Amino acid sequence: MSAVHIVKLFGQLRARREVDRSAALLNSAVLLTLGAAAIHFAVVPDHLSEYPLYGAFFIALGIAQVGLAAAVLLVPSRQLFAIGAGSAAGVMALWLVSRTVGVPIAPVPWRPEAVGFPDVTATLLEGISVIQFLRLFRRPRRLRRRGRIRTALKMVPMVLFAPLATYLGVGAALTPMAAAYNAAPFVAGQTSVSLVNLVAPAGAQPLKEFTLTAAPITVGGHEAWAYNGTVPGPELRVTEGDRVKVILINHLPDATSIHWHGINVPGAMDGVAGITQDAVRPGGFYVYEFIAGEPGTYWYHSHQDAMNQIPHGLVGSIVVEPKDPSKVRVRDYSVLVHTQPGADALEVNGTSSLHLNAAPGDTVRLRITNGAEPGLDLAPLTPVLVGAPYEVVALDGHDLTGPQELGPQRIPLGMGQRADLVFTMPDTGAVRLVGLKQVGFPWSSPSSPVVTIGDGPAAAAVNVSSLPRFDLTRYGTPAADPVADASHYDVTREIILGGGFGFRNGSADFTDTFSGRASPYIPPINVREGQLVHLRIVNPGDHSSHPIHIHGHILTLLAKNGHPLSGSPVHTDTVLVGPHETWDVAFKADNPGIWMLHCHILEHAAAGMSMTINYEGVYTPFTMGTRSGNIPE
Ligand code: C2O
Ligand code: CU
Repeated sequence: MSAVHIVKLFGQLRARREVDRSAALLNSAVLLTLGAAAIHFAVVPDHLSEYPLYGAFFIALGIAQVGLAAAVLLVPSRQLFAIGAGSAAGVMALWLVSRTVGVPIAPVPWRPEAVGFPDVTATLLEGISVIQFLRLFRRPRRLRRRGRIRTALKMVPMVLFAPLATYLGVGAALTPMAAAYNAAPFVAGQTSVSLVNLVAPAGAQPLKEFTLTAAPITVGGHEAWAYNGTVPGPELRVTEGDRVKVILINHLPDATSIHWHGINVPGAMDGVAGITQDAVRPGGFYVYEFIAGEPGTYWYHSHQDAMNQIPHGLVGSIVVEPKDPSKVRVRDYSVLVHTQPGADALEVNGTSSLHLNAAPGDTVRLRITNGAEPGLDLAPLTPVLVGAPYEVVALDGHDLTGPQELGPQRIPLGMGQRADLVFTMPDTGAVRLVGLKQVGFPWSSPSSPVVTIGDGPAAAAVNVSSLPRFDLTRYGTPAADPVADASHYDVTREIILGGGFGFRNGSADFTDTFSGRASPYIPPINVREGQLVHLRIVNPGDHSSHPIHIHGHILTLLAKNGHPLSGSPVHTDTVLVGPHETWDVAFKADNPGIWMLHCHILEHAAAGMSMTINYEGVYTPFTMGTRSGNIPE
């Protein structure tokens, strides 16, 4: 641009003043219109891939809006203001129709589209521009000379608001939920096996067959989603070595799936929508089949839209009993702590006050599972057993060696984690599990369900918060461990837990990240069968405890904050990484497939804390995203 041009432009701008009543008003109308245009341009790539006509429409709309803004700036007139108001109102009306009844020219005609962050932002900008254009239109030739400073001051709010809204809208529009994201695509020219072929080998194991029908029910005036009509779903009990077959029938209004949390099932049976299967459509079914391996306490839950479906009730316990009957306790109970659907409350096995039968002298095994999201403090649940000394015999279903007897202690359990307690019923009185509390909003009434085992007077109340915390790093007796004792690991990965403001799934939001990245764009951990994999998980935050869960494998906990474990070897599928903690863990890659590794705080996983472990030579035919409708988190 030459100096002559600039002088000319200024001349035009000055000429505009003659017509203009308020430069501030006019400039803000221009800013708002340009902002809406920018958002419309930003949605083009996503729309082009989804439905090219939409893409073309938004290109045209963006160009028209830029044209309008330029004209208003350079040759303002009342007609132009009327056109500006009318066209912006028209675009808003079209948006409203597309979000309520749908439009006729669309991939699915007359189907309302989902309201999203970018379109709301663009509509907001347009809505304010309509007001500005009308104000410009209404004020006829009343010359109001304002000084530059007054104009500038008057523009401050709009100069702050319009670009910020534009930035958020454009950022959100440029990061939509992928239409189709494949965690481990087929690569032409490489020998590879599809994950769907990774199933349990044929065999003559005793068959245990279950049917789980997922359907809406009403409990306590709230809608819940339930397996076989109860929340939690039925407890499934199988024996080590059984061939377990579960038929999932979906009578929900949405697609769903079942994940066998903690059980090392074959790759195709892991129940993760978009990775190991397509989510089961309403009216559809899916058959899961696996051989029950290591005895222990596990649980099952939906892994499609888990953030909503788990708190809605799609959870249940699954117990693998040892083959050797002498190891079966006299009284063996699974105790699943979960969210009461539709309410801000905890329950245990569907009630706030659970009573379990036991007589004096009975040996009792309590299998405690935390299937509830944490409270506002994002801290683990800390159940406390009072009334009898007990041993913590297993964590996440895996036995500890040489467990010592303990008095009342808070046992930290992040969401997804389990602890098995064994005790002998005292001669008189009941044993209780208390401390099942979480921090809620000040106005919510915090519920604290209690489990009572046996009859008679309850044990004296304890001040839960003053009790010591159970420390798994120095409990039980040391023993040889092939993974912990390894002198070398083939693959290592550091995962730094973090988060912050960002854009994800078409929205401006907080994201939760592994080493600065949010799913699905976290590079996978690539492994080969037989390799030993070392993970260092660092939580630099001072707030949340993140329960980091691995699918299909067992983690051996090596060290906390650099200090190796000094007691029993500890094997888990979920490691609770507290504020300012660093955990070293390792696993043997012994189960080919594509496996998730994610934070089990459902919001965190959904906001990005989720990645995969990909075996060389395995691909998945499934994709996540809007096209498939698979949303594992
Ligand atoms: Cu309990 Cu990936 O889940
Ligand atoms: Cu987390």
